[in-house]
Amino acid sequence: MEKRILGRTGRPVSVVGLGTWQLGADWGDVTETAAREVLEASAEAGVTFFDTADVYGDGRSEQILGRFLADHPGAGFTVATKMGRRLPQLPANYRAENFRSWLDRSRRNLGLDRLPLVQLHCPPSEVIDNDATYDVLDDLVETGAMAAYGVSVETVDQALSALRRPHVASVQIILNAFRLKPLERVISVAAGTGVGIIARVPLASGLLSGHYDAETTFAANDHRHYNRDGSAFDVGETFSGVDYQVGVSAAAEFASLVRQCLPGGVSTAQAALAWVLQQPGVTTAIPGARNADQAAANAAAAGLPALPAEFLAGVTRIYDERLRESVHHRW
Ligand SMILES: NC(=O)c1ccc[n+]([C@@H]2O[C@H](COP(=O)([O-])OP(=O)(O)OC[C@H]3O[C@@H](n4cnc5c(N)ncnc54)[C@H](OP(=O)(O)O)[C@@H]3O)[C@@H](O)[C@H]2O)c1
Repeated sequence: MEKRILGRTGRPVSVVGLGTWQLGADWGDVTETAAREVLEASAEAGVTFFDTADVYGDGRSEQILGRFLADHPGAGFTVATKMGRRLPQLPANYRAENFRSWLDRSRRNLGLDRLPLVQLHCPPSEVIDNDATYDVLDDLVETGAMAAYGVSVETVDQALSALRRPHVASVQIILNAFRLKPLERVISVAAGTGVGIIARVPLASGLLSGHYDAETTFAANDHRHYNRDGSAFDVGETFSGVDYQVGVSAAAEFASLVRQCLPGGVSTAQAALAWVLQQPGVTTAIPGARNADQAAANAAAAGLPALPAEFLAGVTRIYDERLRESVHHRW
């Protein structure tokens, strides 16, 4: 699979990575066996970049990844974790002693002395805009606890703020066919800064597979059931902030665009992923997968040829006609 350098980490990573929130919690039940199959299928298909966080399943995702890494020594994998949500997201909690103890826990969970990349996990803007945050992070790089740091953000303005910092290695942001604002405001800017762009929620939490309809239900412990109104965390993380029924009908139009413009063997989800990773300035897209078949299919999207102009124009049209008004002014 094609690899790109992940910003200031200097590390080559696969253009399709794997998001491992699913392997922790919040997506219904995923057994450890299924989680392991997802990881193995991804690696088999050439994935070398894995995104996790200390809070996914309160450490479960990191621990499963840690056991997987131990079983694949020298495989050239890069794991990016996140910190900052084990306490309430108040600016005062983003301080050196907390960072140190969160990092130590992640190092134990992942079985890594030095974490390759640690991202602040969508902190408040005040933290992203504060010089002191980066002073502490720079010190932690000096101590060797982590090799590099990045920032995972909710909004375009937060991304632009992080991009201005000289030692930020990567910015993680939502980018998908239903979330075009970062394309217009962030991705092109990032290209000139040397900061890597990690595109998350590339399938709009699965909506862009085109498999859901008005009757689809999700398990009670799946955020697509309990966070549609943003009561647990930022609503932009669930279906990319698109109202479910609006999203289902936009996804049906997206699926028909795929059938019209792309060869028969390309699934709707693969087209959605290819759209993300073919945007100049994107380093890697990190779809989540709930089983090995999804993981393998997602990795295969890296091999698709350049998407035709008719398809690209169709994506913009669907966004402009159905979604722009409700989501573009947010995030
Ligand atoms: N704040 C943050 O920093 C933050 C927030 C959110 C996510 N993330 C990261 O980003 C990663 C990706 O985002 P995400 O998992 O939220 O959303 P996503 O990748 O847009 O959607 C994942 C869902 O899409 C469906 N799917 C995946 N592959 C498919 C395929 N080939 N065909 C059909 N359906 C498929 C699966 O759901 P079903 O099987 O149920 O249909 C899967 O759970 C996360 O795992 C996490 O690592 C970070």
